[in-house]
Amino acid sequence: MTATATSTGIREDILRLKKERNAVILAHNYQIPEIQDIADYVGDSLGLAFRAQETDANVIAFCGVHFMAETAKIVNPEKTVILPDADAGCSLEQSCSAEDLKAFLDENKEKNYYVITYINSSAAVKALSDVICTSGNAVKIVEAAPKDRPILFAPDQNLGAWVSQQTGRDMDFWNGSCYIHVEFTRESIQRIKDEYPDAAVVAHPECTTAVRLLADEVCSTEKMVDFCRNTDAQNIIVVTEAGMLHRIQKEVPEKNLIAGPTDRCACAECRFMKMNTLEKLYNCLRDLSPSVTLDQEFREAAKKPIMRMLELSK
Ligand code: 13P
Ligand code: SF4
Repeated sequence: MTATATSTGIREDILRLKKERNAVILAHNYQIPEIQDIADYVGDSLGLAFRAQETDANVIAFCGVHFMAETAKIVNPEKTVILPDADAGCSLEQSCSAEDLKAFLDENKEKNYYVITYINSSAAVKALSDVICTSGNAVKIVEAAPKDRPILFAPDQNLGAWVSQQTGRDMDFWNGSCYIHVEFTRESIQRIKDEYPDAAVVAHPECTTAVRLLADEVCSTEKMVDFCRNTDAQNIIVVTEAGMLHRIQKEVPEKNLIAGPTDRCACAECRFMKMNTLEKLYNCLRDLSPSVTLDQEFREAAKKPIMRMLELSK
């Protein structure tokens, strides 16, 4: 950290550097409030992928986790894509390596799987996939899949189970999950519901089936904002990573938001998303590092299923 970065004017320093670099700051809904408040755009994985594709800035400063910055580089390879902390990973990404996926597909060649992969995955895994999806478009992507091929849905078994139920399409699932969303339990959510009997419940599809069954709405983080705006309920229990409450509260200040508790904590925080700080954002804009680099051949292979997703999502 530099003397400048520790000063109270870090916000101004970031904005100055952003201008000098002709950079755009994109931030996921789970980022700390200070980062959300300085970003040019705050959204879910799908919205961020579209923004990354469309921007004419020279530099994309991506405040989220690594696979999101990697996706931005894949869809916009001419740009410099930097991220505050290159170690900000994702338990879903870690649950499915390219080696394991390739071995599984090789072992099951006769099945001729149509591979639908959640965007929470590495570029190497994306390169082995037919199409990518996010929680915001998974239903649409599954509905558009060929009817004459079995689907392998990777790596989130909970999102997969939810989409299967929404679309009526049978699928095989990879055995992955988000370490944060599986912390919510039927009991932890029922307890808070008992405390606020009139509250609406909105949950992310990465939650387990038992938790989703208690929800009035199951949707991506972006759609949660609309749900909270449009519901008649005054109290809303938000069952996802706690950073989401800041985004919703800014846009829907008249509602009372209650963080979904786990059995251990009053709310759930993703340790990867929380690795980013204003200081690290300042440093990456100053140094243009860490940045995302990808081998061209590999990048092009990963780009195809992402572009298919973006086309299907318009
Ligand atoms: P969204 O695409 O709904 O923002 O979800 C991303 C994520 O990582 C959820 O844990
Ligand atoms: Fe990955 Fe879960 Fe964190 Fe989302 S909340 S980035 S799925 S570990």
